Amino acid sequence: MCYLDGEWKGRVLVFLLHICLALAYLKEFIHCMHLPMMLSLRTPIQIVLLLIWCSVAVGEPGKCREGVAKDITAHHLLVQDVFCSYDKDVRPVIKHSDNVTATIKLFIKFFSFDELNSVMHIHTWMAMTWTDAYLKWSPSDYGNISVLHVSIRDIWVPDLSIYNSGDLSVSMGFRRSQCVIYPDGMVLCVPAIKWPAYCQAVFRLWPFDMHECKLTIGSWNHHGEAVDIKMSDAGYSLDDYVQSKEWELKNVTALVNVSVYECCPNETYPSAEYTFIIKRHASAYAATVVIPVLVLVGMTLSTFWLPAELPHRLSLCLVSIVCHCLYLQYLGAKLPSNGDVTPVIVLLFRGSLIICGAAVAWSVALLSLSCESAGRDVGRNTSLIESRLLEIIQKPWIAQILCVGHLFSKSAPADGEERDDAAVTVAEGGLTRGWLIVSTALDHLAFYVFTVAYACMLLALIPN
Ligand SMILES: *[C@@H]1O[C@H](CO)[C@@H](O)[C@H](O)[C@H]1NC(C)=O
Ligand SMILES: *[C@@H]1O[C@H](CO)[C@@H](O)[C@H](O)[C@H]1NC(C)=O
Repeated sequence: MCYLDGEWKGRVLVFLLHICLALAYLKEFIHCMHLPMMLSLRTPIQIVLLLIWCSVAVGEPGKCREGVAKDITAHHLLVQDVFCSYDKDVRPVIKHSDNVTATIKLFIKFFSFDELNSVMHIHTWMAMTWTDAYLKWSPSDYGNISVLHVSIRDIWVPDLSIYNSGDLSVSMGFRRSQCVIYPDGMVLCVPAIKWPAYCQAVFRLWPFDMHECKLTIGSWNHHGEAVDIKMSDAGYSLDDYVQSKEWELKNVTALVNVSVYECCPNETYPSAEYTFIIKRHASAYAATVVIPVLVLVGMTLSTFWLPAELPHRLSLCLVSIVCHCLYLQYLGAKLPSNGDVTPVIVLLFRGSLIICGAAVAWSVALLSLSCESAGRDVGRNTSLIESRLLEIIQKPWIAQILCVGHLFSKSAPADGEERDDAAVTVAEGGLTRGWLIVSTALDHLAFYVFTVAYACMLLALIPN
């Protein structure tokens, strides 16, 4: 059952253990005479020991052959000969001063960007090739086998690792994957790797933001004189790339950076640096956030064209304020933490909220003045300020700018008696026509002022 082709040491050890156990049982037996219990315990333990014996006795693959079995194929022979005395911890060069040149190419599959934790996860297949001086054979000796498939765990692999990891809990090293070896010692491995690149993004221009994320890969232990890094062609391929729903990949650049540190001027440290430029797909956010802010601005400005004494005007302003507050809350929850840099869209809502608040104050002031004006005796002369303002407004160019010219002209031919509009005519609702003109003119003036305020705010916040 157990053919004897394994490690002798292990088998001798198990044999000794076996004898010790037997002696211990014998001792116990002499002391206590618990014969039936001993027997029942002893049998399973012996079976387990026999199984361990067998498993140790079965030879491990990849060891040097001692004799050729009958059904062994050229493939078996090749694996046994190639891996005879192979040590995967030894850098596979003949001369120690030689380097192993690892040529890499990143096949970018897709990526995701974890904005809250500033980590860009890049899912790739990384093709690596290098030459292993100890994995060579001549195919004619082995039934013309010209390619060998082995597990990445069984051979020496350049210890490439990410330098700017955004998640240090992710272990370094390659997962299980197969490598291909060619007779000239060339090894090709294409492990599938998810790189967690740290990428601190600034969301100032959210949702029209664009970010530059880097992925730096290099040997963890070796300098360039031991393990050199090169890129094949461009160093990356986007042939199988699947577009992200959230981000657009604008550009990828790849280059090998060679650094030299002060400590070791004779050593170089090459690393492959990939730069990804990504841009957010903004159309959804433009529809849900940017357009509403513009509508709210328009709503606030339109209130200045409503009669000052209309109570609905105040309601419109207040609705606008409530909407602003709701949106600010939404943005606060939606946007990732951004340090000291407040996103422009939040500043925009904040500025708009302040202007809206000013519009409410303005409306309240005009409303109260209207009430006061209406309370005055009809037919009495206008107040001093009112008449002063009317004098100014009456100047044709000012009247034209403030769009109140028609109010003067309407009143003029109505009775034919009053050319002087500063004199009082009775308007609807008990308001004097003078006050009507003044309040309308002031409203239009406020409209201009607030429009300019909005424009200044926009210009200040949006640099280009
Ligand atoms: C590694 O070896 C190659 C070829 O032998 C050589 O061209 C290259 O300069 C070496 N790299 C370093 C960093 O020494
Ligand atoms: C670097 O190389 C030079 C000349 O080869 C040698 O004199 C010097 O000692 C080396 N420096 C270090 C830090 O090994």
